[in-house]
Amino acid sequence: MAYKKIGVLTSGGDAPGMNACVKAVFNRATEMGIEVVGIMGGYAGLINGDIVPMTRQMLNNAMTVGGTRLYSSRCPEFKTEEGMQAAIATCKREGIEALICIGGDGTFRGATDMTKRGIPSIGIPGTIDNDITATDYTIGLDTSTNTTLRMIDNLKDTCESHARLNVVEVMGRDCGQIALYAAIASGAVAVAIPEMPFDEEGTIKKIAALRASGKRGMIVVVSEGVLNPDGTRFAETFAKKIEAETGVETKFARFSHVVRGGRPTMRDRETAAHMAVRAVELLAEGKSNVVMCELNGLIRPVDIHFALIADRMYKNKLKEGDLEGFTPEQLEGMKQLCDKRREEIENLYKVAGHVGFR
Ligand code: ADP
Ligand code: F6P
Repeated sequence: MAYKKIGVLTSGGDAPGMNACVKAVFNRATEMGIEVVGIMGGYAGLINGDIVPMTRQMLNNAMTVGGTRLYSSRCPEFKTEEGMQAAIATCKREGIEALICIGGDGTFRGATDMTKRGIPSIGIPGTIDNDITATDYTIGLDTSTNTTLRMIDNLKDTCESHARLNVVEVMGRDCGQIALYAAIASGAVAVAIPEMPFDEEGTIKKIAALRASGKRGMIVVVSEGVLNPDGTRFAETFAKKIEAETGVETKFARFSHVVRGGRPTMRDRETAAHMAVRAVELLAEGKSNVVMCELNGLIRPVDIHFALIADRMYKNKLKEGDLEGFTPEQLEGMKQLCDKRREEIENLYKVAGHVGFR
């Protein structure tokens, strides 16, 4: 499949390593004689025709910076047939024959919609949440967990000095991985994630006992996806409850978007480069409608439809008819993926319970 021109875009929440990914797409495609254009601001750029020719100068030093130089957006208009037709029209007008779309599951839905409408597309997982079931890893997780950790380390200094506890709320949407890694690596006294039931009373007792035994500074990590019964976030409420019930002076910190920016780590740069190079090669081989996944250390393409349905299966969001058309082997493969993800979370949670200060 000899493409002359392909487009690359970043979409959904930005993630450190997206620039490294774009740069690697550019480098590998250029090497193969394929022209690359950048689509600015995710799918909004496709709709509005905001397309820029890519140059080496534009990507100078791009490996080392967070965010995305192609900008990003959440573009609801793209989900409509009208929006999609506008995007297709832009591709035709600009001579864009194929796309590489870097983002999360929403981005992959867009990529498969473009493929179905005649623009072959490949997805690359870029999100700090690591919440794409089909892949062991998404670009951005390592940087964001390390940033989270550095911030918790800072809080630990001041907590120790003032004999305080700090409840820290971290991002991750419905996935507790950022919280788990940060809690394990910082020796937090407790961690609450959306995937596991949280022993609120047991944690309060533990904190009181730790204080009684002389422990001064303490950290509790709560993932943003843990909610109160009324749908509000649990972390801040819990901080107040800890102070009220234990007498331990408790502060609350919401790290929010701070952990989404910053210089990407080696892990994120390497994964980004690796997935990008393979994605360009696959496009050139005539393959599309796949997501680049890391599975047991290897980068492999996984069918987008399979990946999206596996994701819904894991998140208990299957819709009627979702499983139709898959072979028994594929369904078994999906179930195994879901089991693997659950096991990973359970194991991390268990470790967090053991390494937390006691
Ligand atoms: P992420 O890619 O990180 O999951 P979003 O869910 O915001 O982030 O999705 C990114 C973009 O992908 C959306 O703004 C929208 O343009 C596009 N998108 C999301 N869902 C769909 C869908 N069901 N069909 C087509 N495009 C979609
Ligand atoms: O998906 C990445 C993420 O940072 C989540 O962790 C968070 O819930 C969400 O995006 C925040 O979205 P926004 O940047 O639109 O506020």
